[in-house]
Amino acid sequence: MRALYDRAAALARLYGYRYVETPGFEATDLFARTSGETSDVVTKEMYTFEDRRRRSLTLRPEGTAPVMRAYLAEMQEQPSPFKAYYLTRMYRYARPQEGRYREHRQFGVEVFGAEDPGADAEVIAVGDAYLRGLGLTQIELQLNSIGDEVCRPAYREELLAFLRANRDRMTDEHRDHLEDNPLRVLDCKDEACRAVAKEAPKIIDRLCDPCRSHFDGVQAGLKDAGLSWVLEPTLVRGLDYYTRTAFEFVSPGLSPQQATLFGGGRYDGLAEVLGGPHVPGVGFGMGLERVLMAIAQEGLGVPEEPGLTVFVVGVGDAGRARALDLARELRAAGVAADTAFGDRPLKAQLRMADRAGARYAAIVGDRELEGGSVTLRRLADGEQEDVSADALTTRLGGEGHAG
Ligand code: HAM
Repeated sequence: MRALYDRAAALARLYGYRYVETPGFEATDLFARTSGETSDVVTKEMYTFEDRRRRSLTLRPEGTAPVMRAYLAEMQEQPSPFKAYYLTRMYRYARPQEGRYREHRQFGVEVFGAEDPGADAEVIAVGDAYLRGLGLTQIELQLNSIGDEVCRPAYREELLAFLRANRDRMTDEHRDHLEDNPLRVLDCKDEACRAVAKEAPKIIDRLCDPCRSHFDGVQAGLKDAGLSWVLEPTLVRGLDYYTRTAFEFVSPGLSPQQATLFGGGRYDGLAEVLGGPHVPGVGFGMGLERVLMAIAQEGLGVPEEPGLTVFVVGVGDAGRARALDLARELRAAGVAADTAFGDRPLKAQLRMADRAGARYAAIVGDRELEGGSVTLRRLADGEQEDVSADALTTRLGGEGHAG
């Protein structure tokens, strides 16, 4: 997980995104208002509790609304556009199953203050680069536009009329809640609902001119970035704050319930829902446990946290004292080094070096002390060389890091 976090942070920085942290819990109202009263998150997945003053609080189920709330409080001092990323835990009271956990981790990015379709293309490119950087190739970008407050209401009515006529073919859940949010039916993974969704009128054919041209711009940007995608007219996303662009990256090898590695889109109305000015925005949230599942599914190695470069082994009192000094020198020079606490036989220390995942053991015994050297042993194959103690730091400084 640490390695996944490190890679995400490095990539986000490369694109000019800055790290942001928000509290682990916030006023329930923040999530209830923004995710939507009919969303799964609000209706059944929030971890809500009362504090000692009977205020309703909720463990963070998603990152977009909190980042927007934080931004609105301090927007005068922020750059525009505001580009932020987060790496944090989310909590959802979902029925636990493979790929759907009550606590999961997300790598998320958000861009506030950019209406330009180039911003949509950029966040998608960041997510794509992240997955490809891990070696994943069996991934598919699904793309849709779900319109805005101009074109969506009329589409909603048209869809509702169609769904009412096909009521009998849907699952009970949707039959009962059809009127609240007809778009949710399009997102349902149930076979019967999918069949209905396939025949339903498509929002993509009903976009107003500004939404249409924005969507064309997003696709031009993706093409320019060398990405390919499939248009998925039933992709609507599960949270209410979305407008226009909606996307998901799926790993087709995983089962449908867990196949979405990341999802996101544009949310041009979110800031206003929170009482702020008009701040267009776009971003994604990526489930890191799902990324690990996709890595396993494609038979790739899990990236590892950079390991220890050298374990300094000191034999005898003088050797141990020297080992401690050497470890200090190496660390001061930025070389990851460790050494044993207290007196241990040579063999035991070499075993420790091995278990610690060190690439080298640097051994200091009587012979080495006399000659002012260390025996540097490459643990992978046991190959040894004598290195002068003074040159050890320089010798290992160029080794870089594993993983
Ligand atoms: P979301 O689609 O609800 O969007 O979640 C984003 C990703 O988090 C999903 O695609 C999935 O990989 C992962 N995920 C969600 N729930 C779970 C769970 N229970 N267990 C494991 N993984 C899970 C959002 O949260 C939006 N805030 C994303 C966003 C950012 N949109 C714009 N900006």
